[in-house]
Amino acid sequence: MAILVTGGCGFIGSHTVVELLNAGKDVIVIDNLDNSSEKSLERVKEITGKDVTFYKLDIRDREGLEKLFTDRKDIEGCIHFAGKKAVGESVAFPWEYYENNIGGTLTLIDVMRKHGVKNLIFSSSSTVYGDPDSVPVTEESPVKKCTNPYGSTKAMQETILTDIQHADSEWNIVLLRYFNPIGAHKSGKIGEDPNGIPNNLMPYITQVAVGKLEYLRVFGDDYPTPDGTGIRDYIHVVDLARGHVLALKKFNEKGGVFTYNLGTGKGSSVLEVVNSFIEATGVNIPYRIMERRPGDIAENWSDASKAERELGFKAEYDLKDMCADSWNWQKNNPDGYKTIS
Ligand code: WQD
Repeated sequence: MAILVTGGCGFIGSHTVVELLNAGKDVIVIDNLDNSSEKSLERVKEITGKDVTFYKLDIRDREGLEKLFTDRKDIEGCIHFAGKKAVGESVAFPWEYYENNIGGTLTLIDVMRKHGVKNLIFSSSSTVYGDPDSVPVTEESPVKKCTNPYGSTKAMQETILTDIQHADSEWNIVLLRYFNPIGAHKSGKIGEDPNGIPNNLMPYITQVAVGKLEYLRVFGDDYPTPDGTGIRDYIHVVDLARGHVLALKKFNEKGGVFTYNLGTGKGSSVLEVVNSFIEATGVNIPYRIMERRPGDIAENWSDASKAERELGFKAEYDLKDMCADSWNWQKNNPDGYKTIS
């Protein structure tokens, strides 16, 4: 039986494909390559020695999806990463985010159900909790109105998938709410490769380290936190990927919606990340304190005990590992996958 991975050329997708292959799974990847490179799959093969079936396909392409599910009767379920994911971009282009993320998911699940494939792991995000009333955040913490269309598309997709499962109990839906994925595979062959100036903290730090950017802007040091900078739950992308392999066991259930936080249960501030990066790599990271970034919250970290109880999930890498592995990827690939001729 095969696992279909949408968005499998992306940062989390490609790391998950590695772990699926390592677990002996047969993997099919579809990706429209809007925000990723097929070269990531060449690197996946270098890492695992295994081939991946790849189709350049957009989740909004109903005809293409119909052909895929007609040709591949062995698809047992789908891990769904494909979607636009830049917070700032979503504020500027909301229509494109709703059309792509919501429209694409509706098309995908319609084709799946028409072919009797009713197992789906959905790439959700801790952003659905908005500004939590308290931390650590559990799966019972209220889902709140998101501060940006990207986050709203995640919350809406969770609602859509839940409603569909309630109407057709044959579906197994796993909602994985990621906290802040950073790091890279130990080989340094795959990693985070954002387009343009990175929005997120770690890729910005690694581009300062490699000399592409002059200094890190620290967005605010006046938050109600020990050192005044924002606190997040950073989780190694390989831990996150392994969480998806563990979640496959829910495909054997007799139907349901299963929601899990995937985090480490530990919060780290921006300055703690910077200092950890310097310690782990020996590379200095100059920074300047700036105004708060609109929409940012003070602190957010997970209670990940439910995933540990029900999936056997436990993050094993610490912040220094994440910093060292992020740097190993960036220094070996200063221009990401564009480095490869
Ligand atoms: C982390 C901390 C910033 C950049 C977002 C999405 C979330 C997920 C991860 C997709 C904050 C500070 C950042 C910089 C900084 N994305 N920071 N200087 O905002 O927690 O989460 O990305 O799934 O859904 O909401 O991540 O890495 O942007 O910020 O000081 O140049 O680093 O203020 O405290 P965030 P982030």
